[in-house]
Amino acid sequence: MILILLGPPGAGKGTQAHRLSAMLSLPTLSTGDMLRDAMAAGTALGKKVKEVMDSGNLVADDDVVALVEERTREEDCQNGFILDGFPRTVAQADALAAMLSRRDLTLDHVINFDVADDEIVRRKGGRLTAPKSKRIYHVEFNPPKTAGKCDESGEDLVQRDDDKEDVVRHRLNVYREQTMPLISYYADKGILIPLNGAESVETVSENLANALNVPYKQTA
Ligand code: AP5
Repeated sequence: MILILLGPPGAGKGTQAHRLSAMLSLPTLSTGDMLRDAMAAGTALGKKVKEVMDSGNLVADDDVVALVEERTREEDCQNGFILDGFPRTVAQADALAAMLSRRDLTLDHVINFDVADDEIVRRKGGRLTAPKSKRIYHVEFNPPKTAGKCDESGEDLVQRDDDKEDVVRHRLNVYREQTMPLISYYADKGILIPLNGAESVETVSENLANALNVPYKQTA
């Protein structure tokens, strides 16, 4: 199965991607994580994108398309994958369609997470992430068992540089201008599943499993 998780920054895509990955035994491909890994490793790509990401703008289409193209060729993607944060522009969606068609693969569903702006700003304010395990927490809505530590890896949790309120508001504008057109792009193809992302983490997870017709599995 090949899935796209679509929605504004902070809608809960990464949180649900992690849970869905456990339910479907499929890898999650987050372009945001890949780019942050490149920055942490100090690669040429990482150095090139740092300023763009910190300011809340989008990285060049060709750079993210190349990352996805390469990652999806790996062994663990052969039964499918979950795309989190890609595509984000119509040009990326067209590139993905061309790539899948070249490989005789089909995009099954696009899940669109709907969450209001004010709720997003609240969520971002308390987000904590684990740089290695990529697990995502919230100090209030989804806290780790031990404050400041990842449940899975035990590593220290950190706040992302682009979670400041002014950057978040800018990212929401970027989302509206460049990513929102993908809702009708995929609705026109008949593969869009709308989902209310404003419910609790557990309820969204259960509704997502039902929408995809897969057995719901509670994950920590
Ligand atoms: P990226 O890392 O992809 O960020 P994003 O899509 O903007 O989304 P976020 O990771 O901010 O949020 P999310 O929807 O995953 O929510 P989360 O689960 O964390 O991109 C970062 C940057 O990289 C971009 O700005 C761009 O520069 C670049 N980039 C990446 N991909 C690109 C591309 N394709 N093209 C060009 N540039 C690209 O949840 C948020 C918080 O809410 C957490 O604290 C969580 O615990 C909490 N939460 C989650 N669900 C719930 C719930 N149901 N109830 C209450 N709290 C919840």
